[in-house]
Amino acid sequence: MCGIVGYIGHRNAVPLVLDGLQRLEYRGYDSAGVAVIHEGQIKIRRDVGKLINLRNKVESGPIEGTIGIGHTRWATHGEPSERNAHPHVSMNGDFVVVHNGIVENYLELKRELTSEGVTFESDTDTEVIVQLIAHHAQHHTNGDMVEATRQTALRLRGAQAIVVVNKHTPDRLIAVRIGNAGGVALGIGNGENFVASDIPAILEYTRKMIFLDHADMAVVTADSYHIQTLQGEPVDAEIHEIDWDSVSAGRGEFQHFMQKEIFEQARAVTDTMGGRVDFEKGDILLKELNLDEALAKRISKIVITACGTSYYSGLVGKFFFEQLARVNTEVEYASEYRYRNPILDENTIVLAITQSGETADTLAAVAEARKRGAMMWSVVNAIGSAAMRTADGYVLMNAGPEIGVASTKAFTTSLVNQLMIALRLGQLRGTISAEQSVFFAQQLSQLPRLIGQVLEFEDQIKALATVFHNYKDFLFLGRGINYPIALEGALKLKEISYIHAEGYPAGEMKHGPIALIDEDMPVLAIAIQDDLYEKMISQIEQAKARNGIVIAVATEGDTFIQSKADHVLYVPAMNSFLSPIVSLASFELIISIIVSGSFL
Ligand code: M6R
Repeated sequence: MCGIVGYIGHRNAVPLVLDGLQRLEYRGYDSAGVAVIHEGQIKIRRDVGKLINLRNKVESGPIEGTIGIGHTRWATHGEPSERNAHPHVSMNGDFVVVHNGIVENYLELKRELTSEGVTFESDTDTEVIVQLIAHHAQHHTNGDMVEATRQTALRLRGAQAIVVVNKHTPDRLIAVRIGNAGGVALGIGNGENFVASDIPAILEYTRKMIFLDHADMAVVTADSYHIQTLQGEPVDAEIHEIDWDSVSAGRGEFQHFMQKEIFEQARAVTDTMGGRVDFEKGDILLKELNLDEALAKRISKIVITACGTSYYSGLVGKFFFEQLARVNTEVEYASEYRYRNPILDENTIVLAITQSGETADTLAAVAEARKRGAMMWSVVNAIGSAAMRTADGYVLMNAGPEIGVASTKAFTTSLVNQLMIALRLGQLRGTISAEQSVFFAQQLSQLPRLIGQVLEFEDQIKALATVFHNYKDFLFLGRGINYPIALEGALKLKEISYIHAEGYPAGEMKHGPIALIDEDMPVLAIAIQDDLYEKMISQIEQAKARNGIVIAVATEGDTFIQSKADHVLYVPAMNSFLSPIVSLASFELIISIIVSGSFL
């Protein structure tokens, strides 16, 4: 993952693509590349590190062409290297592709292609896409690029954004969006057209944009575009005029930044895993954490300290650290901890979770802990912030700038970061086997798709928001690893809509709060099919006995729950360690819809 830029028209694509990539630098990347077609040949330049390296390469070995694609990459499969950088070319040299996302079934597809004699140049999942397109073109579609791309796209599992070019048909490029791996914007110009993963990349050239929907494919020439679904149905896409002011421009197709950031989450988690998770071997690489085996074995306690949403993220993290790494973990409000005279020693890690990296209470709490001999780690989004600079080890969220007041993608990525740290600790402490590492890495590779699937339920969630937007009080319930999600859901609703909301671990209801429940206080309950499912069902029954209206977040396929809850929001079936990350997305969506009134 990270940034995609494409151009087709009458100008030299190379400077346009490089400038577009430059505007996406804020998203972070570890390598970059550009490809053009010139005189029937694909020409490529790629390099690791900053864009300046790529620019230097292009300067010393110039390429040009009126059709070009470029990419900035966070490595997901294979180390950051020139060979693994995008664009990737098919073995027969016909096709070239850039791609954002994770191909979940790439190993299966790679094996299939290898058995047909295809050889691979890189370790990436992306190369599977380009080889498969070439294979389909050669064996099934009689060279038809559109059909070969369509057939390939239908075989990919996971959320993807893809742009493909063929040297035999240099008058067109194809862009595909599958799921929510991030957007694909077409920029409509005059005798030229653009493609980008993010609006800022092409905003200088055009304000007319089309946003591809899930499972849409666009065939773009210099002066036309044709959009169809992957099933071959034509799509009549709306052209959006992007306003000139930079705030509206940044918001793009979304009504407000919170909505935009909710929809960016699938991509944000891909970026946060980029270069850190080896999905094949299960290795976790967290260079900046400065964690080695001796330290991992020495740690006797982790104290997570944070505020607000970041604190709730820590409550989920406690489950990861205790279950996977078997390290005793406490979670503390930073604003309280700094005044507490805590008991700490040099075998304690104090972990600050902070999106901004500058929250005064969090910084003061870790400073206090360090004074007492503890080591400090941080999970932080803002690069160069105090929490990053002063830590003994850190992991960046790579969520990109969070502009909405309500923290959404930073919460999601901080959960993924803690899961990665817990897995690494577990590997080094010997509490996780090699097989379990591979298992969890494969689970992680599914995350972008799972989050994307929840976001596809937007219409169903809009219908619910229509029913509930006038209520004044809400109760959020969850159990086990999902109880912090109930607290976070309530915080989000309060913060954004000024509607009163409470969040509780569901088992606490009988100790007092159940008295609150009546027909005026809808209950949102996370009741996915995990070890605590039956307990949650019984808590839903208790709420119903008090005339409560229950909205359950449940596992897809669970029809039984329909007889217990008044409304059901389904989420895909998943491993319970991933469930807090995915379940929250449905709460966020309902809250953002209630706030914006976009159902009206
Ligand atoms: O930047 P931080 O993560 O340290 O901020 C902590 C809280 O202020 C923050 O999470 C706040 O609760 C959010 N705006 C909630 O959406």
